[in-house]
Amino acid sequence: MGGRIKLLPEYLANQIAAGEVVQRPASVVKELMENAVDAGAKHIKLIVKDGGKTLIQVIDDGTGMDETDARMAFERHATSKISSTEDLFNIRTKGFRGEALASVASVAHVEMRTKPAGSDLGTLIRIEGGKVVLQEPVQTPVGTNIAVKNLFFNVPARRKFLKSPQVEMRHVIDEFQRIALAYPELAFTLIHNGNEVYHLYPGNLYQRITAVFGKKMGDRLLPLEQETDYVRISGYTGKPEFAKLRRGEQFFFVNKRFVKSPYLHKAVMDAYGGLIGERKIPSYFIFFDIDPQHVDVNIHPTKTEIKFDDEATVYNLLRATVRHALGKFDQMPSLDFEGGILPDFRPAKPGKTYTEPSVQVSPSFNPFTEGTDKPFDKPSRKEIDRFTGFVSAANDFPSGEADNPLAVFDDTENDTGDASFQWADKYIVTYVRDGLLLVHQYRAHVSVLYEEFLQELKQGSVPSQLLMFPWETDYLPAELELLEKHRKVLEKSGIRFEIDGEVFRITAAPTGFDNRHLKRFMDELLAQLSEEIPAGEDDLNKYLALRLAQASAIGTGQTLSKDEQQKLLARLFSLENPRYAPDGKKNFITLSENEINNRFL
Ligand SMILES: Nc1ncnc2c1ncn2[C@@H]1O[C@H](COP(=O)(O)OP(=O)(O)OP(=O)(O)O)[C@@H](O)[C@H]1O
Ligand SMILES: [Mg+2]
Repeated sequence: MGGRIKLLPEYLANQIAAGEVVQRPASVVKELMENAVDAGAKHIKLIVKDGGKTLIQVIDDGTGMDETDARMAFERHATSKISSTEDLFNIRTKGFRGEALASVASVAHVEMRTKPAGSDLGTLIRIEGGKVVLQEPVQTPVGTNIAVKNLFFNVPARRKFLKSPQVEMRHVIDEFQRIALAYPELAFTLIHNGNEVYHLYPGNLYQRITAVFGKKMGDRLLPLEQETDYVRISGYTGKPEFAKLRRGEQFFFVNKRFVKSPYLHKAVMDAYGGLIGERKIPSYFIFFDIDPQHVDVNIHPTKTEIKFDDEATVYNLLRATVRHALGKFDQMPSLDFEGGILPDFRPAKPGKTYTEPSVQVSPSFNPFTEGTDKPFDKPSRKEIDRFTGFVSAANDFPSGEADNPLAVFDDTENDTGDASFQWADKYIVTYVRDGLLLVHQYRAHVSVLYEEFLQELKQGSVPSQLLMFPWETDYLPAELELLEKHRKVLEKSGIRFEIDGEVFRITAAPTGFDNRHLKRFMDELLAQLSEEIPAGEDDLNKYLALRLAQASAIGTGQTLSKDEQQKLLARLFSLENPRYAPDGKKNFITLSENEINNRFL
């Protein structure tokens, strides 16, 4: 062995993005861990003291270095990873500049033990502020063990500007996580001030993400995958309902290198569109595998910025892939009544609690003094109902229906028209056994219509109705072509149209469709049809059903009669999953009696 590491010729060294490599302890962590990855290590151990201000040590079981290389490694522009300009455009390793160890060694006390396979003895090198102060043979396992102490000991101004150990540790953990996520097949350990922070076993990406961020994170992700000749995109993206206001777990990896990219981030955000609240950001762990010829990593000294030679393609593909993931999995958590997500909201079973015979209202009853023992132990539910203006539909339940959790809404025999009321022309408020239910009327209606449209689409087509006044608009020739090409899809959705020169004329629309939404429906459909990845039959049906439902649902601001309210509730709760709208948003919220009681404490 020996002589693997070579000095870069000057012309090549000059082509490399120059700049500060070591800014803080976390930069050292990044460089040392990347070297361990490049050395083919299977297990990488990071030991840190005081957020890295006192010690940063990385122990790997990679190839190690012989005596000559051990010394060469600390020279500027000395690397085993590239040797020509051509190599610069075919980078598969994390390192390529031959800068990191030289930079680190110039501002710290460094001690390295390293041994390649097949050697009896390894090499120990001690360097202080760039000067070799010791080199001798040493007993050490195969691999490299490098310790960096007293960072910036010789640059007091830099040392002074380091933040508290806690803040520096936060940055160290960020770097550690980025590398651990990029290499789930490797084992990692992180020890801070003698405490084990992470011990990560080799596994797949999903296992690694949950090992790093906790089991809960696993339930919040949707897988994504897309492959073209140019790039392969894979990984996970967050379910919309878990998007957060603060930036959190957003990761892009290009050829297993963590990169920051506002441009790609925008593509993801774009894909979420209206699915998440304004200013909310979803989590994502997105990997790009691409021929290194198509990426430039030599833009910034820290290598966290990259450039694809065809940025627009990556952007569009990423957006489409994320959209596809969001659509495909519907973001519908499986609702399980038995599992207890909704157990508190079963309507009352006729039984002792609710069958107080004709209750007299006590004139002395004061609802604000709890625990008045007489004449009633507690205000009965019926009294509460009177106070709130509700009549408990639950009381009227024939026992046979008691097991149907939401039979209250199917109860057409007893006129339960009083069991709900509309509030703010937006919510339907209703009463179930253990509390109040506030139903979002628009979303509830979308959910109901979505299922109906989906059925119709699956069975063939949505019934449509001739428009009394055909709707016309102008489209670009390319758009008209696209619409013509997808005539079948449109007809399936109940839209009949003619193309007359540049005029696009809709002559029939689905029954119940609100024609004020035609323009938006068409524009969105066009955007969807022009997606690079054509949606499969199933996905397209879901997409159409959702858009049709949104365009046909009664809006917020629309007054509903009691009868309409009851019908809507009955339809909503006959759905398999009434809790969520097809776009993942909540259809209703509940206020349990307990919650309400607590508000009165
Ligand atoms: N942990 C290690 N195991 C084996 N060899 C290593 C290790 N760390 C460094 N080396 C060797 O030392 C060389 C110099 O490392 P250094 O980090 O300074 O540069 P680089 O990794 O080549 O490029 P970059 O500056 O981009 O990181 C590497 O090219 C590699 O051959
Ligand atoms: Mg390196």
